[in-house]
Amino acid sequence: MPGRMAGRVALVTGGAGGIGEATGRLFAEEGAAVALVDTDRAAVEAASAGIVRDVASARVLPLVADLAQEAEARRAVAETAARLGALHCLVNVAGVRVYTPLAEAEPKDWELILGVNVLATAYCCKAALPHLRAAGGGTIVNVSSVYGVLGRAGMGQYDTTKAAVLGFTRALAVEEAPHGIRVNAVCPGGTITPYHIHRAAQRGVSEQQLRGSRARDNGLFGRWAEPREVAYPILFLACAESSFVTGTTLLVDAGKSIL
Ligand SMILES: NC(=O)c1ccc[n+]([C@@H]2O[C@H](COP(=O)([O-])OP(=O)(O)OC[C@H]3O[C@@H](n4cnc5c(N)ncnc54)[C@H](O)[C@@H]3O)[C@@H](O)[C@H]2O)c1
Repeated sequence: MPGRMAGRVALVTGGAGGIGEATGRLFAEEGAAVALVDTDRAAVEAASAGIVRDVASARVLPLVADLAQEAEARRAVAETAARLGALHCLVNVAGVRVYTPLAEAEPKDWELILGVNVLATAYCCKAALPHLRAAGGGTIVNVSSVYGVLGRAGMGQYDTTKAAVLGFTRALAVEEAPHGIRVNAVCPGGTITPYHIHRAAQRGVSEQQLRGSRARDNGLFGRWAEPREVAYPILFLACAESSFVTGTTLLVDAGKSIL
């Protein structure tokens, strides 16, 4: 049976690990040729090799680029289209975090986080649009966060960028509908990725302890999401099954946002 992404070419940013790697892997399983783009060369090459090893006939292209630089975003998109033959789908996963109260927020941190979480998304979309228009039925999925719609203390710079991604998604959905491109956003809740596992390890907290630490804070199921549980909703929005969905914000948060 052909996969849900058969014959499609997808570019996944932040593809070196976590949600980006899981998305690239699932897309490859569903028949897409996939470019994984990241700043971390070793990790993105390892992610790519792992998918090629595990998924029969997978076609995966690892690329290194700092997508907060517009020229780099253009290069990554152009290389994807040139080497994989087209571009039908863009998933913007790359992101960074800053843990500072807004009263203490520094300009250098604002520039970093706006650069990756907002501008890289905008640059990748702009570079991808001509290819998506040409391919027909193009899709973009932007990864925001449950904190793009909720308030909390301590990560206001991050939360600001994730709310911006939702506004950007809606505007682009309206602008690109005449070109047949659908643009949607996914808002994950806490997802157990290498980023969180490494960060916990630096505090002397094991993965097992980390997994047990979200009993009350992480929505109705009292646990973290696995990256693949976020990749499936991304797949839905990227493929033709969601053909009447655009401009939407899909919460993938175990109900955290309704509490
Ligand atoms: N893990 C969670 O709990 C969670 C929850 C909500 C939203 N998110 C969002 O999901 C996305 C992925 O998070 P994750 O936890 O899977 O892994 P992560 O945060 O480690 O992944 C981000 C990836 O982006 C890459 N990256 C950073 N700056 C880049 C740049 N300038 N150019 C290209 N790549 C760059 C990193 O190298 C990394 O591989 C992020 O946008 C994050 O904000 C994660």
